[in-house]
Amino acid sequence: MTRHFLNLGDAGGDALAAMINDAIDRKDARKTWPKGKADTDAPLADHVLAMIFEKSSTRTRVSFDIAIRQLGGTSIVMDSGSMQLGRGETVADTARVLSRMCDAIMIRTDDHGKIEELAANASVPVINGLTDLSHPCQIVADLLSLIEHGKALPGLEVTWLGDGNNVLNSIVEAAGLMKFNVRIGCPDGYDPDQSFVAAAQAAGARISVHRDALEAASNADVIVADTWVSMGQAHADAKMEAMMPFQVNDVIMGQAKTDAVFLHCLPAHRGEEVMPSVIDGPQSLVWDEAENRIHAQKSILRWAFGQI
Ligand code: CP
Ligand code: NVA
Repeated sequence: MTRHFLNLGDAGGDALAAMINDAIDRKDARKTWPKGKADTDAPLADHVLAMIFEKSSTRTRVSFDIAIRQLGGTSIVMDSGSMQLGRGETVADTARVLSRMCDAIMIRTDDHGKIEELAANASVPVINGLTDLSHPCQIVADLLSLIEHGKALPGLEVTWLGDGNNVLNSIVEAAGLMKFNVRIGCPDGYDPDQSFVAAAQAAGARISVHRDALEAASNADVIVADTWVSMGQAHADAKMEAMMPFQVNDVIMGQAKTDAVFLHCLPAHRGEEVMPSVIDGPQSLVWDEAENRIHAQKSILRWAFGQI
């Protein structure tokens, strides 16, 4: 059966753990190499990854491109505006055609229903490079970054501060799969998707929502922030004002454990969701986190092709 990666649950906890181990090993094996050199075993030699972007991207675009090259394959990167998709060709027909021409499809889009439709009509793996609902690839890199920095996932206390968005939904999903806990500090009206919360709780994760940022951050192992205005959302002064008490600053970091780390998927808005002293400070893992997008994508691609 074709393996699609639309959410973390498509792989499940065991595969996720295996992907992270694979990423650590492969990263280690090519530490000093030029970025464009293929891994010795080139496990996806001759494979072509099609990438479709309906929204902006720096990290996802470059990391998938480098990932497929390191696995021995190549990529075709397309902005939907320059595709027939952008002129009304259906998602289903696009899926059928790309399945005949390419070996896998990565898409960044808005409505999650679109990626589900793409996957339903594709005969090659479809990978979610972010939708309005979720951002699973990002969270594989985040978990890899935490493990690399000595944080064992089971029982870990992760605090999210800010908007209940796509990135948070995937963190909550990961909590259920990998058995860590998430405390969410956000204003009323900005909670994460309830179906992700319910599923994670049913899987045994402790997921709680707090209206007080200090309470949410108390004794945390990890503090996570993201933009208050995701792609496709309108900038609203009222939302920015409501988010301000949930800004990650030195006072918030002071509430967390002394060895707590800070994550942010980037792009960041210093002075809004995070202060420079935190994101550019010693507890921040953001540059490792960004680099790890490459190593995570490689494992996701290998999983999609049944190699993990
Ligand atoms: N974190 C992330 O997905 O970054 P890009 O939007 O630059 O791809
Ligand atoms: N929540 C952000 C993540 C960007 C990588 C957005 O959707 O814009």
